[in-house]
Amino acid sequence: MNAAESVETFDLDLGWLDQMGEWGTRAEPGKQGLTLADIQLGSYGDVPAHSDNLTGRPRGAGKRADGFRVGGYEVRDKQDIWLDNAAMIYEEAVNRQWSSATDVPWETIRPLPDDVEQAQCELATLLTEVEFVAGDVPARWVAATTPDYFEPRMTLLAQIMDESRHMDVFRKRALANGGGLLQRTGGTAGVVGSIDMSRDFTEMSSRLHISGEGAVLSIFRMGELMAYNEAEKIAYRLCAQDEARHVAFGVMHLRYIADTAPERKEEIHCYLDESERALLAGQQNPAAQQTPVSEALAILLGGGKDQFDDGYRKLLAIRRRQVKEYMQRVKSAGFGERFENGRANPELKTYAQL
Ligand SMILES: [Fe+2]
Ligand SMILES: [Fe+2]
Repeated sequence: MNAAESVETFDLDLGWLDQMGEWGTRAEPGKQGLTLADIQLGSYGDVPAHSDNLTGRPRGAGKRADGFRVGGYEVRDKQDIWLDNAAMIYEEAVNRQWSSATDVPWETIRPLPDDVEQAQCELATLLTEVEFVAGDVPARWVAATTPDYFEPRMTLLAQIMDESRHMDVFRKRALANGGGLLQRTGGTAGVVGSIDMSRDFTEMSSRLHISGEGAVLSIFRMGELMAYNEAEKIAYRLCAQDEARHVAFGVMHLRYIADTAPERKEEIHCYLDESERALLAGQQNPAAQQTPVSEALAILLGGGKDQFDDGYRKLLAIRRRQVKEYMQRVKSAGFGERFENGRANPELKTYAQL
């Protein structure tokens, strides 16, 4: 008996056809290609308000009675993690991946005066620490989220890849020009440390995406002022591009909460109170903020130890920019009332107007 005959006589069960989801679906590519948004068709696009999917079943696939409960997902309520444009942020993240090995012109780095190189290495040490937290913490939430909410889940996965690259680009910078890593800066204490202790996704997101990454984004955007060569400029620019997506995730998630779960607003305002205390501590008492990192930043911005004062003035301008951008973000997220009803410290407004 040859192979063809054996197929013909084989008795097919075809029981698996009963297990499929909605049939006849024909997704078509749009201007951006075939995106996640283009496949939100029929029941595949229905995102349940609550998910009982504990088996890792893909959204829209048929259930099976013998499916193991592989995931004790904590995040099974849509409002706990959802944002309306996660699919778009995800596609953009995939499109804009870059390589720190080949997209950064490392050959443009030239020897720098010792004080400037040391300051650059201090900043690179801090950023390597911060980027570790920014990847490590969202990673814990991926496996804690039901597969029914795969859009935010996959966007977080893309963020983790981005943060991995940020960690490596600053590590590479520290080792590229005669310096190296310095002592761990401890710059991850305070708000950054509390990100790690968040027990709720929204709590984590408001601390990580809105406060922590928002502040880092303002630094990256001012990267031109701290860069001494094309390699540093481009590294800051590429990181800023990624960071803007991470911040957008947080803003859009808070906006979703503001729109769909107003009963949680007071809780969110408490997280923002905490962020603002940290933001203002630096503004009101610059001496208290004269940390190793702020010294390094001022040396970089001024152009050396001798121009520390000038550099410090520029650093204060960056901090004001952080406040201003933070306020814009909070307003855009739907929590701007805190700047009108006296809840936010009025000094924030003063700094934002400077
Ligand atoms: Fe980052
Ligand atoms: Fe980030």
